[in-house]
Amino acid sequence: MSASTINLAVIPGDGIGPEVIAEALKVLEKAVAAEGVDLQQTHYKLGAEHWLATGETLPDEVLADLRTRDAILFGAVGAAPGDTRIPSGIIEREMLLKLRFSLDHYVNLRPSRLYGTVGSPLANPGVIDFIVVREGTEGPYVGNGGVLRAGTPHEVATEVSLNTAHGVERVVRDAFRRASARERKHVTLVHKHNVLVYAGHLWKRTVEAVAQEFPEVTHDYLHVDAATIFMVTDPSRFDVIVTDNLFGDILTDLAAAITGGIGLAASGNINMDRTAPSMFEPVHGSAPDIAGQQKADPTAAILSAALLLDHLGYTAAARKIEAAVVADVETRDGGARSTSAVGDAIAAAL
Ligand code: NAI
Ligand code: MG
Repeated sequence: MSASTINLAVIPGDGIGPEVIAEALKVLEKAVAAEGVDLQQTHYKLGAEHWLATGETLPDEVLADLRTRDAILFGAVGAAPGDTRIPSGIIEREMLLKLRFSLDHYVNLRPSRLYGTVGSPLANPGVIDFIVVREGTEGPYVGNGGVLRAGTPHEVATEVSLNTAHGVERVVRDAFRRASARERKHVTLVHKHNVLVYAGHLWKRTVEAVAQEFPEVTHDYLHVDAATIFMVTDPSRFDVIVTDNLFGDILTDLAAAITGGIGLAASGNINMDRTAPSMFEPVHGSAPDIAGQQKADPTAAILSAALLLDHLGYTAAARKIEAAVVADVETRDGGARSTSAVGDAIAAAL
């Protein structure tokens, strides 16, 4: 990466993916131009529509090409639930998860902030400003399982959660580093070590050990079921949550719901060792129910572009995008605006 060029891969995907990515690029282009940065874009056709047309999920040549980029901006992929033309799981496993695993995106970063007046369904939300550091390459999502006697009354299905000392340690250390740079400097481990004792104890011991390196950071522990209660009754208590792949997936949807919804939730799939490009995407999917109608909120995609700039070291530009989003969100009154009108407003507020 040269100081003044960003070599960006863009994967718009399916459904509302291309609509929200167009707005994210609008804002990103303006933000980096102001810093004198040259944004070079390579667009890739991937996703459910591409699979239907070509039978390709993620060819190795495409993966190799993606590796040469500085970062990936990703929209969303997937067909409508119930679309029988596409086997369930094929796009998720062979494309999305393949990207995350091959590019070693071990930090799945999901910030949750309640912006000003944006409606939280909570009656007294208080100040909500926490990040979830979800492990991205292990846990129950590795495809470590199988099935015997399928379709019979004696069917056996396994889905084994994989946890390595190396994998847990690197993501826990990332969480402590991020906490150390934040005001409250607090890490909460979320797991279920009273029941999932083998993986749970590895996570718990790792947190205790890594915590020694960060005396300025405090830490505590919650079982995942209790964490869902506190996320609704007292979300202000959280600063940095570190957790495994599955618990993080579920908790971050809840986190998105209490902070104004899926239209605002951004994420990064990050390789902190920088051995491969990281990928930034809205948490939401392709929303087939509203696709092609300019109804999608592009804010989550725009905030994902800010996370991308942060990761590449363009922190001033990232803060400007966030400030422009806050300025726009605070003026929202519930009236309908088109996807591109929201993008225009945020770009204008930069
Ligand atoms: P979804 O997130 O696409 O939609 C859930 C609901 O939220 C829908 O009612 C949708 O209209 C609404 N919504 C989503 N994004 C929105 C936005 N930006 N603005 C306004 N409303 C928004 O989840 P769903 O329906 O479960 O999945 C649809 C497809 O997306 C499936 O094929 C699924 O596999 C895929 N998917 C892909 C993801 C990815 O690419 N990372 C993540 C989640 C789902
Ligand atoms: Mg999810």
